[in-house]
Amino acid sequence: MSSFLQLFHPFPFKVIDGHDIYLQLEDGKKYMDLFTGLGVNLLGHNHPDIIEALSHPFPMHLCALLEHSLKEEVARDLARITKFDKVFFSNSGTEAIEGALKFMWKWLEKRSSTNERVFAFRDSFHGRTLGSLSVTDLFSHQNFPRLNIDVVFLPFGDTQMLAQEVERGCGFMILEPVQGAAGVKCAPDDFYRTLTRLQKEFGFGLIVDEIQSGLGRTGEFLASTLFGLEPDIVTLAKGLGGGIPLGAILIKERIANAIKPGDHGTTMGGNYLALRLAKVVIKQVQNLLDHVRNLDMLMKDILAPQLLNNEKIRTVRHKGLFIAIELKVEKADEVKEILFEKGYLVNSIRRKIIRLLPPLIITIDELREAVQQINEVIEEF
Ligand SMILES: Cc1ncc(COP(=O)(O)O)c(C=O)c1O
Repeated sequence: MSSFLQLFHPFPFKVIDGHDIYLQLEDGKKYMDLFTGLGVNLLGHNHPDIIEALSHPFPMHLCALLEHSLKEEVARDLARITKFDKVFFSNSGTEAIEGALKFMWKWLEKRSSTNERVFAFRDSFHGRTLGSLSVTDLFSHQNFPRLNIDVVFLPFGDTQMLAQEVERGCGFMILEPVQGAAGVKCAPDDFYRTLTRLQKEFGFGLIVDEIQSGLGRTGEFLASTLFGLEPDIVTLAKGLGGGIPLGAILIKERIANAIKPGDHGTTMGGNYLALRLAKVVIKQVQNLLDHVRNLDMLMKDILAPQLLNNEKIRTVRHKGLFIAIELKVEKADEVKEILFEKGYLVNSIRRKIIRLLPPLIITIDELREAVQQINEVIEEF
């Protein structure tokens, strides 16, 4: 009997090694990794620059009370690329969301408006801690206690309802620009445009959760750019630490001015090792943006139309390397298992959806091969 409390449904073999976009499992076979540990291994496995960064001695841990140059360097890099003013580091995505919610709260408090409503969206996912769950719709059935704030869940993409509800009062709003756990769902363009207009008109705060969509996944460093969103706070995590736990909260000045020392903190967030790897990730992601945009065009012009010719497929949604293939029947788990036998690791969600989060270094030929295999397996059902 296993001593480990297993809360997922793992693949049946253990991982032995990884290189490039491939993992080797204990059955001796090589597998193309098309979901990268749920979007973490942006640079694939054992990227030479990550190995190089790991090969020099470093202080294993420096507490938040000790300064070191990497904190400022990585914060400055992120702020420069994204045009934010301040950066705070956390250990994970859900912790970045907790910090973001607290920062927004302090900002509301400064404006004496903590009784205002908070808007989140149906089908959203922002993490598993209690604060994050309070603004997460996907696990609302789990019956965990929620923060004692007035959260209103609006349908994602319903522009008219958004406008109506904002007029009735909104302190701040939190959204994923592309809903990942919901199956790579974008709202209509008009929704994002209206949101930005309303934000200017009514002055509510905006947290954009880019934990899955950020760091080059869509072909932009931040997906917010694609949709013209102008967040006050952006959360990042997943691949930021190159495989070491790391999250970041990017903050605009007007919010940062409301936060004072002691309002938030962390022991391990932004540790030396994670930040050293983050420097590598940030540089490489910038270099890969054009490549991801080319793959986005390949998907749009060639691969998605090929998939859509398959009568078993209902639809394909994608932005860059953020890809969902929705089946007409609830067979996504079976498709995932057959692909596994054939040497491809994909993620199945919500019974009908195959989600792909390939490493940003995947080549044109590899993406073509992967999509062709997936298409063939789905066709056989
Ligand atoms: C959009 C989004 N927000 C938050 C999280 C939570 O991140 P973590 O698992 O690092 O806590 C995730 C994780 O999948 C996510 O996709």
